[in-house]
Amino acid sequence: MFDLRKFGGLIYGADYNPEQWPREVWREDVRLMREAGVNLVSLGIFSWAQLEPRAGEYDFAWLDEVMDLLHAHGVNVNLATATASPPPWLSTRYPDSRPVTADGVRLEVGARQLYCPSHRPFRDHAARLVREIARRYGTHPALRLWHVNNEYGCHIDQCFCGLCAEAFREWLRARYGTLEALNSAWGTAFWSQRYGEWAEVQPPRRAPTFANPTQQLDWRRFSSDNLLDLYRSEVAVLREVTPDVPVTTNFLGFLPGVDAFRWAREEDVVSLDAYPDPGGPHPHLDAGMSFDLMRSLRGGQRWILMEQATGAVNWRERNVLKRPGLTRLLNHEALARGADGIMFFQWRASKAGAEKFHSGLVQHVGPERSRVWREVRDFGAELRGLAELGGARVPARVAVMFDWNNWWALELDSKPAALKLLPLVRKWYAALRQLGQNVDFVHPDADLGGYDVLVLPNQYLLAAGAAQSLRAYVRGGGTVVVGFFSGIVDEHEHVGLGGYPALLRDVLGLWVEEWAVLGHGETNGVCFAGTGERHDVENWCEVIHPQGAEVLATFERDFYRGGPAVTRHAFGAGRAYYVGTDLPGEGVRDVLRRALTAAGVPTTLVPSTLSVSVSAVEGGHLLHLLNVHPTQATVLGVPAGAVDALSGEDVGGAVTLEPYGVRLLRYAGEVDLPAVEVVEVSATPPGPGDPLR
Ligand code: GAL
Repeated sequence: MFDLRKFGGLIYGADYNPEQWPREVWREDVRLMREAGVNLVSLGIFSWAQLEPRAGEYDFAWLDEVMDLLHAHGVNVNLATATASPPPWLSTRYPDSRPVTADGVRLEVGARQLYCPSHRPFRDHAARLVREIARRYGTHPALRLWHVNNEYGCHIDQCFCGLCAEAFREWLRARYGTLEALNSAWGTAFWSQRYGEWAEVQPPRRAPTFANPTQQLDWRRFSSDNLLDLYRSEVAVLREVTPDVPVTTNFLGFLPGVDAFRWAREEDVVSLDAYPDPGGPHPHLDAGMSFDLMRSLRGGQRWILMEQATGAVNWRERNVLKRPGLTRLLNHEALARGADGIMFFQWRASKAGAEKFHSGLVQHVGPERSRVWREVRDFGAELRGLAELGGARVPARVAVMFDWNNWWALELDSKPAALKLLPLVRKWYAALRQLGQNVDFVHPDADLGGYDVLVLPNQYLLAAGAAQSLRAYVRGGGTVVVGFFSGIVDEHEHVGLGGYPALLRDVLGLWVEEWAVLGHGETNGVCFAGTGERHDVENWCEVIHPQGAEVLATFERDFYRGGPAVTRHAFGAGRAYYVGTDLPGEGVRDVLRRALTAAGVPTTLVPSTLSVSVSAVEGGHLLHLLNVHPTQATVLGVPAGAVDALSGEDVGGAVTLEPYGVRLLRYAGEVDLPAVEVVEVSATPPGPGDPLR
């Protein structure tokens, strides 16, 4: 139902909050929007108090005027349901609509996202407002998309109040049917936790020590589902009143509280808010990982970058700005990874409120004398020339398995060591990108058959069904690469016995007797047979017994000396690699390169100052070459036969990229991965935010 053609080309725009500004400013806004090439704004996200100043009393006059004004100037609207921040009258009238923390603190009025998802009167008020908005604007010619609420779970992803406790019990009844089944799934024979009545079952509030892990895991599942149910309650109204208007809600990417794979099925188009830290070493990789997740959520469907900053945000301890050119570069990274739209938060930097020091397209200084405005306007013009990207596909032969259930389970307390999932995933993802791969993320229950190689940086929790489908995938000729401490527990967080990883022993051709968590500062070494390649490893070693697997690398020291660290096993028509330690990035990359090569997937070695992606467009392919470094670079090894998609000139061999520069090279037919090499980097001294530091 989402159709980019209705938006007038690739989407360009921002959150627009006209209620913060007098009318004269609105007129200037629409003039400037035209100047910048803006064709969509997200409107009304935080407007509830303006639209319904008192319960049941609506004031749409100002929004009517804004909608008409935007339409008259050719700007389309992504209209919000305006429920993201309930007005003070609602929170005051219904104190129990305010969420409660795990410590029992009920939160106070004066910020935003102050709602308990289970509170019926809150839901009813929200649904009434949504109905009013949908009825009033459902046929407005500017309306293109519904923006439901805003960033669910961004501040409050769990509410521990009595109403949520009741909803949790209902959710558990639906999941388990009987208390017996719940007791068994939660392993309540431990620590005298057996439940005799449903009323005894509670959320995992603050407790004397570790709460029951399955209770905690189910609570995370429930909390995501409960928010999803709230989203559904708004969407139901929209579908009823305006069945033809597509619906989205903006995700925050890898946000722990929202299982985006479950949510995305219920949207028409996926949208993302991406705020990588420009002061971090690799903002393009941090953002790129979320971009790839967005494309993967609905099977490769293109998505919208709904929010990002033009410069600095206001909410970090140090809000580093985006250096000249970095916004454009990140926009190209999004386009290369399947974005149909490039939008920002927010159109005009606020004069008051908590976000007054957050950058906007129009900065406090005004447009004329602003470097940021010039960049915004220039990119708007550039985007009009990139229309063909709107139909592009991002073909990936390799996917990283990702599952919120595993993320929650791995990061529960009481583990051999406190392991964080995202840094591991990021390390493996970065290695794949460095090998020149387009990367998808795939849910364990999805159809795995479309990929040559599947990568599991860590899959601590692996349900029986998912293990079965992995087994079928490898047997049928697929390649998997599995990281340490995977396949340990099932969906209830119960350990598989008889040698880890119980459900994958046959696929991997080995069993793990025990693991060894290394102390702080303690290292071991891993050496690959044949090549002699070696790496220092930290954090984790395992005692592995091959049972059919071939040993590729062994540990160097201590009592694991000579024992397998990395293995490979032929299983059916496929192969399964196992990495029984926390290899550094280069080590991961080398294992992945072996696996890809053996699976017939070509690789290259992309220098850390470049980002390389391939997209499939009508009649051929585009090679997206991005210089992610603020110094000029010349890239060698670019396959011949290309035409520069921006300038139209023939290219091949060597290509020069300006600091943060971008080249899009069009090839008729297939494109080989370039044997990329950066031979020259200008002497400009790297400044703050240099990605190499
Ligand atoms: C987003 C949010 C926006 C704004 C922005 C600031 O999380 O959706 O409303 O607060 O952050 O970076």
